[in-house]
Amino acid sequence: MTKIYQVAELDERALAHIEEAAAVIRRGGLVAFPTETVYGLGANALDPEAVAGIYRAKGRPSDNPLICHIARASDIGQLTPRLSPRVVKLIENFWPGPLTLVLEKKPCVPDVTTGGLPTVAVRMPDHPVALELIRRADRPVAAPSANLSGRPSPTRAAHVTEDLDGRVDVILAGGDCRVGIESTVLDLTEPVAAVLRPGVLTPEVLSAAIEEEVIFDPGVVAQTTAREDGGDREPERPRSPGMKYRHYAPKAAMTLLEGRRERVEQEIRRLKAVNEAMGLKVGVILFEEQGFLEAAHEFFARLRELDGEGVDLILAGALSDKDQLGFAVMNRMLKSAGYHIVRV
Ligand code: TXA
Ligand code: MG
Repeated sequence: MTKIYQVAELDERALAHIEEAAAVIRRGGLVAFPTETVYGLGANALDPEAVAGIYRAKGRPSDNPLICHIARASDIGQLTPRLSPRVVKLIENFWPGPLTLVLEKKPCVPDVTTGGLPTVAVRMPDHPVALELIRRADRPVAAPSANLSGRPSPTRAAHVTEDLDGRVDVILAGGDCRVGIESTVLDLTEPVAAVLRPGVLTPEVLSAAIEEEVIFDPGVVAQTTAREDGGDREPERPRSPGMKYRHYAPKAAMTLLEGRRERVEQEIRRLKAVNEAMGLKVGVILFEEQGFLEAAHEFFARLRELDGEGVDLILAGALSDKDQLGFAVMNRMLKSAGYHIVRV
């Protein structure tokens, strides 16, 4: 039986529920909780049995490593043996916040948490409920997004309940997630810092803070510019294991349309009419051309909303991947569409 607690307002009752949830984590159980990016499904990161429970609940492939969440920056010492000056700068500038750092791991971090990698991903989320939970759990909390594997990431409590009710011990139901796409994953184990998963903290912004080059990992670039009809342009295998799986898939078929704005709008209207005439239910996702933050905030929720309406086909306008924020959202849109994108 899953306990679902409302914690949108951090009053005394909510704090009592969070304390109970923290005890569940200490005992090796599973707790879904809000963060500023997406909801997470948490367990004691240092307990292999507890972490195995996360994979089971999500139906997630076990070679896909998890992010360890901490509530105090100084707790990072539990997970990694040393901090380079650039890591310190990143922590000072961006934590708490939507930035995950991939670092050398300490032996105490179990293989099941890191998918057998010699590195560990660490993040301090910027959300009062998450911080309260992790602080009270008194250990690092491993947490992937709180969705069934392959489904769009959950940005509202209802999304979590939809996927995980009956599969986890506690769901802490807060409000909508402010950011809406997952954290930027930044690899700091190589000489040049590389973004393994794009997010709202872009290479430009990160680079300015550490006064060093920050690149997109070539695997991410290949993936985000890949097209279904790209012939033999099979995307290079990404270094972030999670990037290789089918992700964020709505139940409906999805097509992205890319081109000049008027042409995209025209083509969406035309395709919608044609498909509706054939008796299909069609949903449209079209964001403002430069509204990248809004798009990040809304995209996953729109996918679930359209699934709820039972649409057969989703027609979506592609965002510009020239902008690094647009690139981050497009990375998700392309996966949702199974790389099915049409130039108009
Ligand atoms: O915003 C977020 O990061 C959310 C919230 C809950 O914090 N969490 C999240 O976790 O998105 P998840 O498990 O869905 O995504 C973790 C990503 C995956 O792409 C995974 O492959 C990568 O981080 N990752 C984790 N550990 C890694 C490591 N040691 N090296 C490279 N990539 C790693
Ligand atoms: Mg995920």
